[in-house]
Amino acid sequence: MKITVVGAGNVGATCADVLAYREIANEVVVVDIKEGLAEGKALDIWQKSPINLYDTRTVGVTNDYSKTEGSEVVIITSGLPRKPGMSRDDLIETNAGIVKSVTENVVAHSPDAIIIVVSNPLDVMTYQAHLVSKAPRTKVMGMAGILDTGRYRAFLAEAINVSPKDIQAVLMGGHGDTMVPLPRYTTVGGIPVTELIEKDTLDAIVDRTKKGGGELVKLMGTSAWYAPGAAAAQMAEAIVRDQKRVFPVCIQLDGEYGIKNCYLGTPVILGKGGVEKIIELDLNDEEMASLKSSEGHVREVMEVLDNMR
Ligand code: NAI
Ligand code: 2OP
Repeated sequence: MKITVVGAGNVGATCADVLAYREIANEVVVVDIKEGLAEGKALDIWQKSPINLYDTRTVGVTNDYSKTEGSEVVIITSGLPRKPGMSRDDLIETNAGIVKSVTENVVAHSPDAIIIVVSNPLDVMTYQAHLVSKAPRTKVMGMAGILDTGRYRAFLAEAINVSPKDIQAVLMGGHGDTMVPLPRYTTVGGIPVTELIEKDTLDAIVDRTKKGGGELVKLMGTSAWYAPGAAAAQMAEAIVRDQKRVFPVCIQLDGEYGIKNCYLGTPVILGKGGVEKIIELDLNDEEMASLKSSEGHVREVMEVLDNMR
């Protein structure tokens, strides 16, 4: 069973490494446009296999999609990352073209693949891949929610001084400052988070989560990769192992939450068929207003893409 990762940069290489050492696929193919980069990273990951004890084959190619033939899942990480001072939306012009050509190549060689988009601006690049692939919406999704809840859960674990393993949370909306963390659906070992933390501290954590990507860009001069790469690999694992995991995932909404034809993060069940169910939470008025505001922002960027086509 084969998984392809397009883009051998920070996120793509990290994702390929996780897929390999966790033996999520028999073969991981890494594709990049930059001559030799994917080959080098794949070789490095393969040379780690006797040390970390895994047998997933890793193969790198420069723009040769014939090697990706028959992939069960394809993860698209190709595209520019943001630099300090840039928003994710500033990347649309370059990344829309990259995601278009990559998706065309992917579906030509793996027409049945489930596509996980990572490139930014995430929600609109998911839209682009969905348009180009012409696949059902359940087979084209974006990774952001696992990363954003990962940040939220990590901040909470630190503040409450508990293991991050025991924090369960869900977050909705677009992958940007309008994302919608949901404290009402956050628990610590089954206990509502609000029983364990002061409101002001929780509000500050919600705010830090919304700006979590920017915090890392400021520190490093480019965006994050360890958590994003691991998050995309976790989605692929849920699919190929048919785990029925419940994750927040970006998908085209088609009437859910009263929203039609907009790409937003929502909790779903992920399994062999891709998104097997969209879970509709019973949001209160305040949460729904935040989701609507996020929808408005994503729609503005979708319109930019529509005007480019
Ligand atoms: P990077 O610059 O390290 O890697 C991007 C790679 O894509 C480069 O190696 C480049 O050569 C390659 N590439 C460019 N055009 C290509 C094409 N047509 N075909 C194949 N490969 C191509 O960037 P990084 O840090 O890996 O980020 C990748 C993308 O993921 C960015 O758009 C970034 O904003 C996004 N991102 C999204 C996250 C999310 O939560 N959805 C989280 C982190 C990053
Ligand atoms: C992140 O949230 C930039 O989308 C990227 O780290």
